[in-house]
Parts: sequence; structure tokens; C-alpha cells
Amino acid sequence: MASSSLLPSVMLLLCLAASASAQLSPTFYATSCPKALDTIKAAVTAAVKKENRMGASLLRLHFHDCFVQGCDASVLLSGNEQNALPNVGSLRGFEVIDSIKAQVEALCKQTVSCADILTLAARDSVVALGGPSWTVPLGRRDSLTANEALANSDLPPPFFDLVNLTKSFGDKGFSLTEMVALSGAHTIGQAQCLNFRDRLYNETTSIDAAFAASLKPNCPRPTGAPGDGNLAALDVSTPYYFDNKYYVNLQAKKGLLHSDQVLFNGGGADNIVSNFASSAAAFSGAFASAMVKMGNLGPLTGSQGQVRLSCSKVN
Ligand code: HEM
Repeated sequence: MASSSLLPSVMLLLCLAASASAQLSPTFYATSCPKALDTIKAAVTAAVKKENRMGASLLRLHFHDCFVQGCDASVLLSGNEQNALPNVGSLRGFEVIDSIKAQVEALCKQTVSCADILTLAARDSVVALGGPSWTVPLGRRDSLTANEALANSDLPPPFFDLVNLTKSFGDKGFSLTEMVALSGAHTIGQAQCLNFRDRLYNETTSIDAAFAASLKPNCPRPTGAPGDGNLAALDVSTPYYFDNKYYVNLQAKKGLLHSDQVLFNGGGADNIVSNFASSAAAFSGAFASAMVKMGNLGPLTGSQGQVRLSCSKVN
């Protein structure tokens, strides 16, 4: 009885959830700019070949775009969100996106949005570093605004515990399993000492002693320059290979960030980490579908927003 009376509202919810992404389509540029996808892929592959880390930086840029007022390229606008705490002195790859945008503009004037370029670049980065591929729904448009306060409130900081992380991702519609899968992005890239120092000196039980000792010389206890900006790999085993070793490291208490290790510390996410650690295929599949879902967060479509001519400023 109860379940049949719930049916209409469940159906409505499903329709609403589908409607945002229903307006996006993988073939959106098939006639208006047929060479766009190949051009973006070639440029990303070249940038990653030149510097491995760029693949990680572009993936992170997309995450930081989507979690703040949706995947609308707001993070690419100069100032604003770029000054927010999780972003300032840390986000990278803007010049790569600008250069790709210039190439795509030369092909098709004001047709391909910066939000779509960034979404494709994230996928192509993962592929360039040996990870899974997926089909990207397209047709996002670019925002007219960016919001620094929202970037500060909606992007999770590295000192978050499992409860906070679950809430942060839950607020965007992600399950615990999806949050753990997306965190697997930390199988590539680097973090600055200021973001993992506490873990080295104040978390003796949840960190492997030899791992902590190996990081301390490059991340000394006194805070401030020059130590703060020193870098360490997020995945100590295979820092630039997009595999499931991140989860194997967590099982060995070798997560770099506090927010990494809380996924495997005797709490409710342990079994998910174990599953991804033992099955590369399970991780790849979960990561790819969670990335599609993240890319579908709050897109501007139709006549909303604009297609920017230059990704760093509104037209
Ligand atoms: C679970 C919550 C998350 C937290 C607290 C977090 C936090 C961080 C922090 C603090 C850094 C290092 C920044 C620096 O020191 O400059 C970082 C790097 C990175 N993050 Fe996350 N992150 C999270 C989830 C994600 C997600 C969902 C993705 C993508 C799907 C992602 C992708 C990356 C990548 C690829 C890097 C390395 C970037 C580079 O080397 O340039 N992160 N993250």
C-alpha cells in the first residue's frame, strides 16, 4: 500500500533527476564542430606527455568546477573562485585549457563551451595516464559568474573526517561508494606539505611509520615557507599511473591526506576500499560512472549562460 502510493513521487523524482542530463548529448558537436573532440584529446595527450602531472591538475580542475554551482567553467574565470582557499596557490592547468580553447576557436567560432572542454580534458587526462575511458555527454554552457564563498563552502578540505566527506558528497547527490570511487582520483598527482603535515606529526596510529618518516624531511614541522609548498605524491606506489594502487596504499596506512586515510580506518568505507583494492575493474567501472554523474552536476544548457570566447573572462 505504502509503496504504491509513493510511486508517483518516485517517478517524478526520477524524471527530474534525468532532465538535467537529458539535455546533454554525446553527439552535441557532431555537426557543429566535428573535429572538436579529437583536437581536445590530442592537445591533452601532448600536455600530459610534456608533464605527467598536468593530467592530474586538469582532472582536479574539473572537480573544482563541478562542485561549485555546477560544471559551468566558473572556476576558469579570473579571480573569484580561483582565490578561494582550496584553490589559491594550488589549482593548475589554466594555460593548457586556454591553449586548447584557442585551437578549438580556430576550428569553430564560439561553438564549444569551456565547461565542455574541461569535462573532456578530465576524461582525456585519465585515459592519457592509463585509466578508464567513458562517453561524455555534451552541451554545457559557460557561466556569467563565479562564486568564491561557494567554493569555500562546497569544496571539501583535506582535514575532513568520513562523516563530513559523506555529507559534502551527499549534498551533491553522491553515495558513499561513489565518494570513495571519486577519491580514487588521488591515484595521480601531488599535494603540498601544508595539506598533509598534521598527518605526519599528529596521527601516529593511522599512518605507517616508515611512510611518515620518508615524508618528514621534505615536510618539516615548522609551518610557513619554504616547507609549506613542498610536494609529495598522493599515490606513493604509482604516482602517475591511473590504477587502483591508491586503495592498496590506504590498506597499508599510506594515504597521504587525512581525508584519504579516513576511507580506510575501521569505519564504514573499509569494505568499499577493499573491493576497489582487490578489483581494478570494479574501481574503473565505479570511477567512470561517478565521473559522468559529476560532469552532469547543474549544467547550464539551451540559452542559459554563454559560450565564452576566452575561458578566463565572460564575453
Ligand atoms: C574527497 C574529498 C577530497 C579532498 C578533501 C581533496 C583534497 C585535495 C587536496 C588538499 C589536494 C592537494 C592540493 C595541493 O596541495 O595543492 C588534492 C589534489 C588532487 N585532487 Fe583532490 N580532494 C578530494 C577529492 C577529489 C576528487 C573527487 C577528485 C577528482 C575526481 C580529486 C582530484 C585531485 C587530483 C587529481 C589532485 C592532484 C592535482 C595535481 O597534482 O595538480 N580530488 N585534493
